[in-house]
Amino acid sequence: MTILVIGATGNIGRHVVTGLRDRGAAVRALSRLPGADTVAGDLTRPETLHGPLSGVDSVFLLWPFFSADGVPAVLDVIAQHANRVVYVSALSAEGGGVWGEVEAAIRRTDLEWTFLRPGGFATNTLEWAGAIRAGRPVRMPYPDAGRSLIHERDIADIAVLALTEAGHAGRTYALTGPAVVTQAEQVRILGEVAGRPAVVEEISAEQARATMAWADETFVDAALGYWRTLVDDPEPVTTTVEEVTGRPARTFTQWAHDHADDFRPLPAADVAERYVAAFRAGRMDQALRWAAPDMVRVAPLENGGKHVELRGVADITANAERLTGDVEIHAVEVDGPYPRGDRFAVRFSFDETDEPTGQRVSRTKLSLYTVADGVITREEVFYFDPPATGDRSAITG
Ligand SMILES: NC(=O)c1ccc[n+]([C@@H]2O[C@H](COP(=O)([O-])OP(=O)(O)OC[C@H]3O[C@@H](n4cnc5c(N)ncnc54)[C@H](OP(=O)(O)O)[C@@H]3O)[C@@H](O)[C@H]2O)c1
Repeated sequence: MTILVIGATGNIGRHVVTGLRDRGAAVRALSRLPGADTVAGDLTRPETLHGPLSGVDSVFLLWPFFSADGVPAVLDVIAQHANRVVYVSALSAEGGGVWGEVEAAIRRTDLEWTFLRPGGFATNTLEWAGAIRAGRPVRMPYPDAGRSLIHERDIADIAVLALTEAGHAGRTYALTGPAVVTQAEQVRILGEVAGRPAVVEEISAEQARATMAWADETFVDAALGYWRTLVDDPEPVTTTVEEVTGRPARTFTQWAHDHADDFRPLPAADVAERYVAAFRAGRMDQALRWAAPDMVRVAPLENGGKHVELRGVADITANAERLTGDVEIHAVEVDGPYPRGDRFAVRFSFDETDEPTGQRVSRTKLSLYTVADGVITREEVFYFDPPATGDRSAITG
C-alpha cells in the first residue's frame, strides 16, 4: 500500500509520515520544494500531482488556502489514481466556509473519505514564541477566551489509523484537546515549561488586526469574532481522540513540554538559520516568529534617503506591502545567513517586474540583522539596486 502525504512538511504531516513509516507503509511525502525525502508537487498546479499519485491508494490531504476554488481540479486528479482520502478539515466546517466547501467537493467524488475536524491547533501559540523568548509580555485580545487546543500529534495519530485501517470510511471525527485552557493560562504554562515567566498584555481587537497583516481579511474578521465568543462560551471538548486511539488526548502542558525549546532563546546563529529557512520556504508567518514585537527596520532607500526607523512588525509588514503593491515577484534568491557574534547578514536577490513600467529587473539587497535574547531586534537594509516603489524621485533624483 502506497500513501501520498500532502502537507508532509507541516505540523501534522511530518508526524503522519513518521507514523506511517513506523507501521511499515510505503509513504510519499509531497512538498513544493523537492528534497531528499520528498516528491515535488503543487496543489495550485494539479497537473504536477499525477507523478506523485501514480500507484497510490490513499491520500492524506490538507487544503492550506483561504479559498476552495482549486479543489475540484485537485480532487479530479486524486480520484484518477487513489481510492481513499483522509482530509484535515476543521470543527467549523459544519458552518460551511472553505473547510465545508472542500468536504462537500470530496463527498461529490467516488473517493472513500474520512474527515478529521480539529478545533484550534496548539501550534498556533508558536506565534507568541518571539515575545516569550525575549521575556516580553504576550500581546493579545481576549486573554480569557477558553480553548481546547489540540496537539498536532493527536491529529496525526488518527490520520495514520484512518489511512491504514478499515472502519473509518464515511466517518467525521470532531477532534479537540482534553480540556479548556484560557489563553492567559496557556501563556503562563508556556513560560513555566520554558523556564521564562510569561505574562499577557491585553490589546484591542483593532490592535490585533494590525499584527495579522499576513492573513486574509475575511479570515482575520472571522478569527477575531470567534475568539470574542470564547470568553463567555469556551470551545467544546470532545472525547474522540480517546475513542479512536484508545488513549486520552495529549494535554496543552504536554504540548508545551514537547515544544519548550521553541520558547527559549537560541544563539544568534541558530536564529539566523531558522529565520532564513522559513523565508526560503516562503513562510513569512514562520519567519516573523523570530522577530521581536518591537523590532526596528532601517532602510533609507525605501524612505527617500531618510534614516526613518520603522518600529514593530505591523508597520514593517505594512511597508513591505506598500513596496510590493505594484511589483510582480517571480523569484527570490536567498544567500546566507552569514552570522557573526550577535548579528547576521543575508543577501536577497529579487527577480521582479515593475508593473507600471512593465520592466523586468533583478534587484539585490543586503540585510544586516541584530539578535538579542533569541529574537531579531533590528534589520538594516542596504540596496545594491534601489527598490521600484517608495519615493522614486528621491531615489533617482
Ligand atoms: N491552525 C489551526 O488552528 C487549524 C484549525 C483547523 C484546521 N486547520 C487546517 O490545518 C491545515 C494546516 O495544517 P498544518 O498546521 O499541519 O500545516 P502547516 O504546518 O501550516 O504546513 C502547510 C503545509 O502545506 C503545504 N503546502 C502549502 N502550499 C502548498 C501547495 N501550493 N501545494 C502543496 N503543498 C502546499 C506545505 O508544504 P511545502 O511548504 O513543503 O510545499 C506544508 O507542508 C490547514 O489546511 C488548516 O486549514 C488549522
